[in-house]
Amino acid sequence: MLAVAVLAAGKGTRMKSDLPKVLQPLAGATLVERVLASCKGLAPQRQILIVGHQADRVEQSLAHHPGLEFVLQQPQNGTGHAVQQVLEPLSDFEGDLLVLNGDVPLLRAETIANLLERHRSSGAAVTLLTARLADPTGYGRVFADDAAQVSAIVEHRDCSEAQRYNNLINAGIYCFNWRKLAEVLPQLRSDNDQGELYLTDTVAMLSPAMHLEVADADEINGINDRLQLSQCEAVIQERLRRHWMAEGVTFMDPASCTLSDGTRFGRDVVVEPQCHFRGDAVIGEGCRIGPGSLIDSSRIGDRVEIVYSVVRDAAVASDCAIGPFAQLRPGADLAEGCRVGNFVEIKKSSLAEGCKVNHLSYIGDAELGSGVNVGAGTITANYDGVNKHRTVIGAGSKTGANSVLVAPIVLGEGVTVGAGSTLTKNVPAGALALGRAKQLVKDNWQAPS
Ligand code: UD1
Ligand code: MG
Repeated sequence: MLAVAVLAAGKGTRMKSDLPKVLQPLAGATLVERVLASCKGLAPQRQILIVGHQADRVEQSLAHHPGLEFVLQQPQNGTGHAVQQVLEPLSDFEGDLLVLNGDVPLLRAETIANLLERHRSSGAAVTLLTARLADPTGYGRVFADDAAQVSAIVEHRDCSEAQRYNNLINAGIYCFNWRKLAEVLPQLRSDNDQGELYLTDTVAMLSPAMHLEVADADEINGINDRLQLSQCEAVIQERLRRHWMAEGVTFMDPASCTLSDGTRFGRDVVVEPQCHFRGDAVIGEGCRIGPGSLIDSSRIGDRVEIVYSVVRDAAVASDCAIGPFAQLRPGADLAEGCRVGNFVEIKKSSLAEGCKVNHLSYIGDAELGSGVNVGAGTITANYDGVNKHRTVIGAGSKTGANSVLVAPIVLGEGVTVGAGSTLTKNVPAGALALGRAKQLVKDNWQAPS
């Protein structure tokens, strides 16, 4: 039997943030979401999140997480005090308790599985993850013998000068025999620099206590301040880019691009410098993205080119070209072979195959039939100050430069709109619509002097 307790009650004072530390975002997911994801594969019988500082906010953010129990730690009197809070909910539990720090988000699922395996096969009372760090500042130091048996953990701030030279650090990830831990938890004392109850002190009370050193020290990076947050972000980004390069994506300047866990690429995509992918951005095969584009939660077909543009909650089918300097906002839905050019904004509108909106346009709440050619500066005036209205433009229609289509309005198929027209009424198929002042020419005009 396995129970998991994630420590997420601390304030995260060193972050200097209004947000509880475990809700800080890291490559599109919160720290605590990442920690929970790392033990998903173990299918634990119980999963407990210990909350305290801004508990409501933390609980709300995880309301969708199946089978998660919340236990309140009030006040927050240290990591040992945090785990004392599960004594009651786990009073009948028999088995192992995996304790994860809510601020250690880079752990791989395999590493936790190894820890559990080692713990169970050795029969230890506790097995904890450790790493050797070039700079162990801030971490608890683990004192162990050559047989990996641990005698004590001493927090950085409680270490003597000599103890600080020990660079074997405590990752904050432990597997305990629950019954044995439950016996010693009530004996913790707060005789340390912070006056708190330290979970780490249980290790000296349990026998045998073992440690397992991780091969990749990046995995156990703890996040206590913004610098460490940025370092973890860099590790995740590097992992994601390496993964997609191995899958056949070219990054011209990898370090300048960021991805999210939900980003997907087809083969032979070329990502130029300064591109950012967020949410579930799915990019088809053979696309060329960038330079300088942001693609957020959108579906992009094959062979699409997107240059210096922003695409959010939009769908772009194959063989389209976007930008430079275009913005596709939520609900923009482009069929095959569309072209959206510079300084064009498209929102909640569908464009059928082969539409062209090449320059300086706003298309909102509209439906364009196939092959519509939207002239430079055409605007759909969709908002009357209170409500939004729809514009429908039939297949094969063309609008002249600087047309304003005042919605609600329907243009039939094959309509031509004269340049500079402001249209407020529907136009039947095949018609020419003009809605502008007649040109007046005065011959031999004498300018007033
Ligand atoms: C802790 C360990 C340290 C280890 C490091 C690894 C202790 C005493 N020290 O130090 O040995 O090297 O993690 O990153 O455990 N929390 C609560 N309730 C509290 C206090 C903290 O739930 O009362 C939670 C925090 O939200 C956080 C986790 O416990 O997720 C760790 O707390 P933190 O204060 O960051 O401990 P560290 O000083 O990093
Ligand atoms: Mg910490």
